Amino acid sequence: MQINGAVAFVTGGASGLGEATARRLHAHGAAVAIIDKNAERGKQVEADLGERVRYIETDVTSGESVQAALDAAADLGPLRIAVNCAGSGMAGRTIGKDGAPHDLSIYEWVIKLNLIGTFNVASRAAAVISQQAPNADGERGVIVNTASIAAFDGQIGQVAYSSSKGGIVGMTLPMARDLAVVGIRVMTIAPGSFETPIFGFVPQEMKDGLSSIVPFPNRMGIPDEFAQLVQHIAENPYLNGETIRIDGAVRFPPK
Ligand SMILES: NC(=O)c1ccc[n+]([C@@H]2O[C@H](COP(=O)([O-])OP(=O)(O)OC[C@H]3O[C@@H](n4cnc5c(N)ncnc54)[C@H](O)[C@@H]3O)[C@@H](O)[C@H]2O)c1
Repeated sequence: MQINGAVAFVTGGASGLGEATARRLHAHGAAVAIIDKNAERGKQVEADLGERVRYIETDVTSGESVQAALDAAADLGPLRIAVNCAGSGMAGRTIGKDGAPHDLSIYEWVIKLNLIGTFNVASRAAAVISQQAPNADGERGVIVNTASIAAFDGQIGQVAYSSSKGGIVGMTLPMARDLAVVGIRVMTIAPGSFETPIFGFVPQEMKDGLSSIVPFPNRMGIPDEFAQLVQHIAENPYLNGETIRIDGAVRFPPK
């Protein structure tokens, strides 16, 4: 899929991995819809990028909100690329140290944001992309979802987060098969630990610990390294229906 001239719909585009993706795709000629609930940061990124960009305040967990964002993005041009980066997590064990079960409302919140939000955006974006003209290869567009290596190496306290990210890995192949008929590819990226505002409140000591277990390079990932992979996925037509880890060969230990 050619990035230059395409429209990219990037959720979580106001911060971290989504922001790096929005900036990289924009630098390669895409028009970018920055889809995020954080209006202050979203408008800032919009102002930085200047032309071919629109910040659209959106809640990815709401069908109406995402539909309205897709409608609002339509005049940027033909939507070809949808990247799901909006997400978050909250720690909690299946039963706590006091023996109490995991708070169900927290579990539901994490699933709703990460898993249902991703499906909501992917399915609605696919409906729009399916209406675009195909390129010479029959390709209409690509959807890139963001899981986490916690989908595979979930640590103590990550049961909700890992469940949500495992669901994203699980939807990748059936969604790619569903959308093959309309020439839309579906890929998922499973990042290790990346230096983004999601770790804003994490003490430096804990960040040092996350870096120290990465075999090589022995550091956290840089958001643009994630964005480089999104770019490659968008441009390489034979990548479809798979999850790619990007993690410096780290495998999370139990804690
Ligand atoms: N940073 C990492 O180490 C890492 C590792 C693995 C996976 N991930 C995943 O990558 C994605 C991006 O993480 P990040 O580190 O860039 O985080 P981040 O906090 O920097 O960015 C997440 C963005 O999502 C937005 N968002 C949250 N809820 C939303 C909602 N309901 N509707 C719209 N926007 C919403 C936030 O406003 C924020 O701008 C997340 O899904 C995260 O789970 C991150």
